[in-house]
Amino acid sequence: MSETELEIDVDREEDADEETTSDEIAVETRDLSVWYGEDRALQDIDMKVPENKVTAMIGPSGCGKSTFLRCINRMNDRIDTCRVEGEVRFRGKNVYDDDVDPVALRRRIGMVFQKPNPFPKSIRENVAYGLKIQNKTDNLDESVETALRRAALWDEVKDQLDSSGLDLSGGQQQRLCIARAIAPDPEVILMDEPASALDPVATSQIEDLIEELARDYTVMVVTHNMQQAARISDKTAVFLTGGELVEFDDTKKIFENPDDQRVEDYITGKFG
Ligand SMILES: Nc1ncnc2c1ncn2[C@@H]1O[C@H](COP(=O)(O)OP(=O)(O)O)[C@@H](O)[C@H]1O
Ligand SMILES: [Mg+2]
Repeated sequence: MSETELEIDVDREEDADEETTSDEIAVETRDLSVWYGEDRALQDIDMKVPENKVTAMIGPSGCGKSTFLRCINRMNDRIDTCRVEGEVRFRGKNVYDDDVDPVALRRRIGMVFQKPNPFPKSIRENVAYGLKIQNKTDNLDESVETALRRAALWDEVKDQLDSSGLDLSGGQQQRLCIARAIAPDPEVILMDEPASALDPVATSQIEDLIEELARDYTVMVVTHNMQQAARISDKTAVFLTGGELVEFDDTKKIFENPDDQRVEDYITGKFG
């Protein structure tokens, strides 16, 4: 795997003396459109995703939520028929520029999928995976512990780090995947319906964890569960059929007083 560092300037130093609670933008899409062959899946999406907040993407099945999420760290590159136009700006640089290495990009913008997908390896090896690829093997045990603690899994697995990740429950596996995603210390975490394969207790743990993660990371989460979006997110983007971003605003505003009648209809269950 390529080890070229991503050529994107990161002004981390400004964190020290400037307020970062304000409206810093982590990711911005401009006129983002996506096609699969002849079929258009997203139409001219303009969106500014605030840093260290939870942004939810909701909308009916097939409206382009997963497609949108996959554009952010160029996961769509892997789909042959997929074509992207427009920009995804991360730290002021378009991630589709020729000099951006998608592998390095994905280290800074990690991803968690719907179905927990641990590697058939030990818990420790799952979490250490990304660190080893980057040769960040100093204090590996400590880094593994930190990631597992941040993923709210440490207490449950600390005595079985060498047993297989696949032996964990579904909810634990998903938290393991979250630990794996955050171990290399990304800046943004993309989650595509991360709780939809889980039971209610595990779902609630993931929801708590997502809110917790937003202290350190920018979280973008797709969900088809509107109550979940209302509970965990700061901002909500509503996509509707045809791949249109119909409204994007504070979650409270979207759920209590949306501007667009179609959003109101969707939220109140008139369709979708
Ligand atoms: N790999 C793919 N190849 C072709 N079409 C796809 C692919 N993935 C998604 N699509 C199409 O793009 C549209 C948006 O899909 P998707 O992003 O999965 O929506 P959502 O996540 O909101 O359900 C749908 O019409 C879907 O059929
Ligand atoms: Mg989807």
